[in-house]
Amino acid sequence: MSTPEVFAELDPPPRLLMGPGPVGVDPRVLRAMSMPMLGQFDPAFTAYMNETMVLLRQIYRTKNQWSFLIDGTARAGVETMLVSMISPGDKVLVPIFGRFGHLLTEIAGRCGAEVVSIEREWGTVFTPDEIEDAIKKHKPRIVAVVHGDTSTTMAQPLAEIGAMCRARDILLYSDATATLGGMAIETDRWQVDAMSSGLQKCLSGPPGSSPITFNERVADLVNGRKHLEAGIKPPGFVDANGPRIPSNYFDLAMLMDYWGPNRLNHHTEATSMLYAARESVRIALMEGDARFVRHQRASDALCAGLQAMGLTIFGDQKNKMPNVTGVVIPNGVNADGVRTMMLNDFGIEIGTSFGPLHGKIWRIGTMGYVCRKENVLTCLAALDACLRHFGFKAPPGAGVDAALASYSKA
Ligand SMILES: Cc1ncc(COP(=O)(O)O)c(C=O)c1O
Repeated sequence: MSTPEVFAELDPPPRLLMGPGPVGVDPRVLRAMSMPMLGQFDPAFTAYMNETMVLLRQIYRTKNQWSFLIDGTARAGVETMLVSMISPGDKVLVPIFGRFGHLLTEIAGRCGAEVVSIEREWGTVFTPDEIEDAIKKHKPRIVAVVHGDTSTTMAQPLAEIGAMCRARDILLYSDATATLGGMAIETDRWQVDAMSSGLQKCLSGPPGSSPITFNERVADLVNGRKHLEAGIKPPGFVDANGPRIPSNYFDLAMLMDYWGPNRLNHHTEATSMLYAARESVRIALMEGDARFVRHQRASDALCAGLQAMGLTIFGDQKNKMPNVTGVVIPNGVNADGVRTMMLNDFGIEIGTSFGPLHGKIWRIGTMGYVCRKENVLTCLAALDACLRHFGFKAPPGAGVDAALASYSKA
């Protein structure tokens, strides 16, 4: 018999995660995750499920009864919404302004949608007129758009899109993975019918749980497709006439029965992730609007510091998210060398980028628990040293000085 392969106890190196997510988890969330298991129908646990729904309504600023968690990373939430909302042949308009718009297009296509996409140069967002023209031309049943595209650092304003969709009885879905907890999300005021997110960015939880919310317009649509698993069907239940949702795990109709008063079994809720989500959102709500101010101040200070070092901030600054900043990589600088040195010598992770921006920008995250003055200053000081090591002559100390000045103004 061969000797089993065993490894040392887990001991991850200490890191300051200043990329576009995941970011450092708030210690209170880690503590919540170490709480004991409960059975999924234990009244103590179903009470935690209900409390999580109450907290999600507040963070999403909505009255939507249907505000709960999908077990899986943020794309599980995206996929749940799209596979449950889209019936084969539905026309879906996807405005793309970065990597995650392409993801929506791909998932909508897999759901059998007739997808129409319009594209914007990365680093910009759409004007309301551009969206309205596309809606008039293509007459979609659903518009699916990313709120904050982490790949480009841009946030697409949603209020006008919401109003134009509602006026035409089009359903609007938006991916708020990068923004929930870092920017105010006004689901009801913006008239967004459905939203989804993740924990690992501005909510400072671990990846693996996706908070979603959707209104009765979406619930009615989904219930019109409700088919129950044979083994859990209550007597007398008749399947709906609409096309069956082609995923079991992401079937929103069955998930509503699990999270709602019917408490009909579906999956086994991921207990520790529910604890994590409940704690992450609770912490964010306790901080209130000051949280958004904290993100904006960090972004302002970071940008001031980077510019004082002679670097350029990527993209249209009016629509930049406060929680992630794109930095144009200066000519001749070894982009991967700088990131590796930041990690190995300073223990700081900053992000690379995708697609047309690969090798052109770094992305520095100031999200959630990590979004603090001392981290902004440490990151700037480390970047200053790494850039000088690779031959870019930033005026020594200028970055930190400018960030300190920005913080003292605010
Ligand atoms: C805007 C956006 N949507 C979706 C995702 C996918 O999230 P996950 O990797 O948690 O599935 C990400 C991840 O970075 C994202 O930034």
